Amino acid sequence: MFYQADQDHGLPFNPFKAIVAPRPIGWISTVSKDGVPNLAPYSFFNGLCDVPPILMFSSGNMKDSAQNAADTGEFTFNYVSRSMQDQMNVSSASVEAGINEFETAGLEMVAGNTVSCPRVAGTPAAMECKLLDIINPTTLDGSKAPYFLVLGQVSGVYIDDSMISNGRFDIEKADPIMRAGYHDYVAMGDIFEMKRPG
Ligand SMILES: Cc1cc2nc3c(=O)[nH]c(=O)nc-3n(C[C@H](O)[C@H](O)[C@H](O)COP(=O)(O)O)c2cc1C
Repeated sequence: MFYQADQDHGLPFNPFKAIVAPRPIGWISTVSKDGVPNLAPYSFFNGLCDVPPILMFSSGNMKDSAQNAADTGEFTFNYVSRSMQDQMNVSSASVEAGINEFETAGLEMVAGNTVSCPRVAGTPAAMECKLLDIINPTTLDGSKAPYFLVLGQVSGVYIDDSMISNGRFDIEKADPIMRAGYHDYVAMGDIFEMKRPG
């Protein structure tokens, strides 16, 4: 099949997020301008580059995470292990600004080192970020997309020491879950090595 993206795909659900998958989940912690911690998962999330290290997540409208990052200039990416899938899901509930999702999800907070955002206790890794930019893209028809791309430069990296094996971050131990389309998630599969030519 082929469809023009601005026309009906004829499928029961939009396949976009099932094709752009699996996506890493950025479990984003922030603090509001009133000092209330906030936590929510974002799978329109990725690294932009590693030197300097820059992360990005995209918010449908200005949700609390993006608003807090805009207000305070800081956010933290927390890694989601499979053992934390239920807490991650609870933290995605639509709740009023001012509700601390660490509490609703039953998670402990650990103070940040370079930012005021706490990280999730027990996460295998976290990256503390200072806001660089928030971009609201203009679409082909000239209108603004209802999404905001939040970019932050990493200022501090936490790694649980037990997640380091032979000097490497051990993805098997960290056991990430990733987002696919619909209500699907993907867990770890085989790991294989392939060197680039040249
Ligand atoms: C796995 C997962 C990934 C999500 N990814 C996104 C995303 O990329 N962008 C978005 O706007 N909402 C996403 N959501 C929904 C938000 O987590 C949800 O709207 C949440 O309430 C936002 O919280 P906040 O207002 O505290 O930032 C996702 C939800 C789940 C469960």
